[in-house]
Formats: sequence, C-alpha cells, structure tokens
Amino acid sequence: MTRKTSDQLRSARWFAPDDFRSFGHRSRAMQMGYDHADWQGRPVIAIVNTWSDIGNCHSHFRQRAEEVKRGVLQAGGFPIELPALSLAESFVKPTTMLYRNLLAIETEELLRSHPVDGAVLMGGCDKTTPGLLMGALSMGLPCIYLPAGPMLRGNWKGTTLGSGSDAFKYWDERRAGHISQAQWMEIEGGIARSAGTCMVMGTAATMMGITEALGLTLPGASSIPAVDANHQRMATACGRRIVDMVWEDLTPAGLLTRRSFENAITVAMAEGCSTNAIIHLVAMSRRAGAQCAVSLDDFDAFSRKVPVIANIRPSGDRYLMEDFYYAGGMRALMKRLAEGGLLHLDAMTVTGATLGANLEGAEVHDEDVIRPLSNPIYREGALAVLRGNLAPDGCVIKPSACSPHLLTHTGPALVFDDYPSLKKAIDDPDLDVTKDHVLVLRNAGPQGGPGMPEWGMVPIPTKLVKQGVRDMVRISDARMSGTSYGACVLHVAPEAYVGGNLALVKTGDPITVDVPSRRIHLHVGDEELARRRAAWTPPPRRFERGYGWMFSRHIRQADTGCDFDYLETGFGAPTGEPAIY
Ligand code: FES
Repeated sequence: MTRKTSDQLRSARWFAPDDFRSFGHRSRAMQMGYDHADWQGRPVIAIVNTWSDIGNCHSHFRQRAEEVKRGVLQAGGFPIELPALSLAESFVKPTTMLYRNLLAIETEELLRSHPVDGAVLMGGCDKTTPGLLMGALSMGLPCIYLPAGPMLRGNWKGTTLGSGSDAFKYWDERRAGHISQAQWMEIEGGIARSAGTCMVMGTAATMMGITEALGLTLPGASSIPAVDANHQRMATACGRRIVDMVWEDLTPAGLLTRRSFENAITVAMAEGCSTNAIIHLVAMSRRAGAQCAVSLDDFDAFSRKVPVIANIRPSGDRYLMEDFYYAGGMRALMKRLAEGGLLHLDAMTVTGATLGANLEGAEVHDEDVIRPLSNPIYREGALAVLRGNLAPDGCVIKPSACSPHLLTHTGPALVFDDYPSLKKAIDDPDLDVTKDHVLVLRNAGPQGGPGMPEWGMVPIPTKLVKQGVRDMVRISDARMSGTSYGACVLHVAPEAYVGGNLALVKTGDPITVDVPSRRIHLHVGDEELARRRAAWTPPPRRFERGYGWMFSRHIRQADTGCDFDYLETGFGAPTGEPAIY
C-alpha cells in the first residue's frame, strides 16, 4: 500500500507554503496556542460534532469528542472540532427531515472550506447519520463514522419501556382510560434514562447499523450502548484509525461500491428496519455515485429474500438494543447473514480490511435475540414497496410491524386534507368511522408537510380505541417514526401537494391495499380521476423566503431519497477545491 507523504496532505496547502496567506494561517493558529509541532507533518482531522445543549441523544458527545481527540493525538494527527447542526429529533419542528439536507450541505462545506485531511463524523439521532454521511460522501475525504449508540432500556416499575413504541402504546391506553395521569408521568420519567439514541430498532439504530454494514464504522461500533465504557474506547479508536486512513488515502470512493449498499439493504432487512431507511439509503447511495445507486425495487427484492432475524422491537416483541449488544451486536448479526451467503464479504471497510475479515470471531450469545436464519421472526417482509394508481412511483409499508389481517384489505377512504384537520377530528365521538375504514392523510409529503413529517402513524380514532381497535390501514405521503408500528402505508409518491393521485381521493372511495401482490389501488375510474384532476388546483407555495424557499424549489420526491436536485450525482460539474490565495 502506498502511503501519502506529509507534503501531499491537503492541509499542507494551508500551513506549509512560505507565502503571505500561509503566514496568516500559521500565525492565527498560534493565536489559539498551537505551535508548528501541532500541524507540521500531521494530518488535520475534523471532528464534526452534532452536540448541542438540546441534542438529547448526543449529550455524551462533548466527552466523546475529547476521547476522539486523544486517539487522533496518539496516532500523530492534529484534531480540530467543528460543530454542526444537532438535529434533535425530539425538539426540531416541523420535522428534522426538513433539515437533513441542510446538515449534509453544512458537513460537505465544513470539510471543503477548512484545512482538513480526514473526518470523524459524530451522529446517531435519526437524521444526523444520513445528513453527515451524504455531505461527507460528496466531499470525498477519508472519513469514519462514530455512532452515538443507543440509550439504556427504559424502566417503569420493573417493566421495560421502549422508546417511542411504548409511548404510543401507553398513550392509547391513557386515551382508553386505562392509565392515570400519575402513571403517565411516571412513564415520562422512566422511558429515556441515559444519553444515547432511541433504543428500539427505530431510525437511529437502523441507520447506525446500516452505516456499519456499509463499512463506514469500526467493527461492532453501531450497537455499543452510548454510556458503556466500550463506547469511550471506540471513540478513541476512531481517532487513531482516521489518522491512518488519511495516510492510506482510504476515501469513501475507495471503499464504497454497489455491493456495499446491497450489504446495507440486507442488514436493514435483517434488523427489521425503520421505513425511513429507504429514503436515507437511496439518497446516500446516489451521493456515492450512479454506480452505487439503489432504488425502491432493490429494497423490495431484498425484503423477499432476507428474513428479519433481529428480535428487537417494534418488529420483535420483547428485546431492545441493549439486549442486542449483549447478544453479540451487529457483528454477530452480520456473521449470521454471512453464513447464509447473504453478504458480499469482499466489501472494503474503514479498517482497511474486508467485511469478511472484520467478522472473523463474531459470535451470537443469545439465539432468541439474534435468531438463526432458520428461525427468523419474519421469513420476509421488513419492508414492502407497493405500486398502483394511488402511488405510481411507489409507497412503503412495514409488514413485520402491522397486524397480519390487514396485509390484504379493502375499505372506504376517510380523507384528511392536512394534519390539523386530522388532529381536530380524531377525538370526535361522532366521527363517522369504522375499523374497516382506510384513514388517508395527505399534504404531508416532502413539499406538503413541509419536510415529510412523521405523521404517517395516523392515530386510531379515539372512539375506536375505546372499542379495542389497535390497528387500521392508514395511507399518507408522510413518513413515520421507526419506533412506530401498524398497517401504515407511507411515502406515497408523487405526493398530494404536487398533484399526485392521493390529492384526488374523496371520502368513501374504496381503496385496496394488497401487500402480498405489492399493489395499492384506488377504485375510481380513469375518467373520473381526470375530471377530479381538472378541478384540482395546486396549493400555494408554503415558503416565500430563506431556506424554505430553496427547499420547496429543489426537494425531490420520496422515491429518489428527498435530496436536493442540485446535490445529487450527475447534476452539473463536481464542486472543486476552494482556491487558496
Ligand atoms: Fe434521537 Fe430517537 S430522539 S434517536
């Protein structure tokens, strides 16, 4: 392997020349107390940190950044911490998805504009993983991902609580009158007990696992609980490793291929992944280049051949990410998939070794948490992609998390034009609804939401909850949280707001959802749909200024990953390095 020499470092363009501008760079670095010995012959490593005072899942990142720095210094690098958008899922309104691409832009431009040779990307909460990686892939410097890791199990009087899933469950029980205000408050204090991401197989755990499958984390990193001392050591190891990656010039382009993305889809399916994985992985693969791009059809094809073997909620019925770690974690899960011939073991990883080499010695310690391929929790169906006149460009359902009797269903639509009208109607005791209705929420997509909020797990009407109904078919152009569950058809493309057929549905129209045949159909004739379309008027634009103005003009639909049209591979010329004067 040829190694870079110090004069080939990108950062040397800032620090090495004997000219006036470099004098400025050096003297201003010295202003901060650094010396020539800090940068001379050393790779500069950006630690892109999504910590903030309101970043609940990343509250350990201040300390972790110091641990990364220790590793960078041990290996002879020069660490600089660069803060980036924290995108705390629990607090950012209307939705963090509105800002995922902004984090991607920020990451790319932070790395491009600074004297940086390589990067440690610190994220984990839902949109931070794809945002950081999309930006870093576009920039193309050597990078390694440091996943925040899951929080500890929730606890309420000895009962284990899972993020999101149990909040939804006990909220329904409270609406049904089975949970008191005092009990609800106890749950509030017990469901999130430590730093770290949601600890079910939600979007965060899914995306961290996918990133390990892509080869962009150290082996086993994605499942270590956030507050475990192993997580601290992993952070320091990231710091050490990135320095060597710079010398080895191991860039994303040098290790990612389409086979890496196929591994990521395989792992997503075996995890029982969040539906959001589709949008993010499609977007990430397109950033990695046309040769890597995966599509909705790839997800559907893999979902038919890869069983769900991680028995983690919400697809599983019992275990959480902490249990997954003790059972062997992501390496053990991938080892099992490898034994079934389901992974490309020659895919390269940030260790400089292949995925296959990284999996040597991995073992499953609990056969109920990480099931054998012969005894999965679902033979197929982590995700399914449906098409039909209601979603010509596709939509998504998570069969493993919905009631089996609803996988094939025909019922009359009950249409809500937007989230406020849904919220207003859902508690109405006189709402004209039965368990056989199909609840339709529209204008909640990439442009309509805006930003495609996680409204797709439309609440069951309270009057039906009181009758014991816990699942119904729901259809929307929104997303849903990876912690959600139910017969929710999501990501309908094109969305209603841009004139997709979802905009033309009327209450009472029969709709069929047929997951086994991957079909979704609105039983309204083409002529009638054409009449309705002629009478449909496009809604006014939501934004007149700022980021939203730009977002609404450039955001693409869910089936292509909701990236901005001008950031995808193939749009215009690649951005060059900044000129240095
Ligand atoms: Fe951060 Fe769920 S709120 S991962």
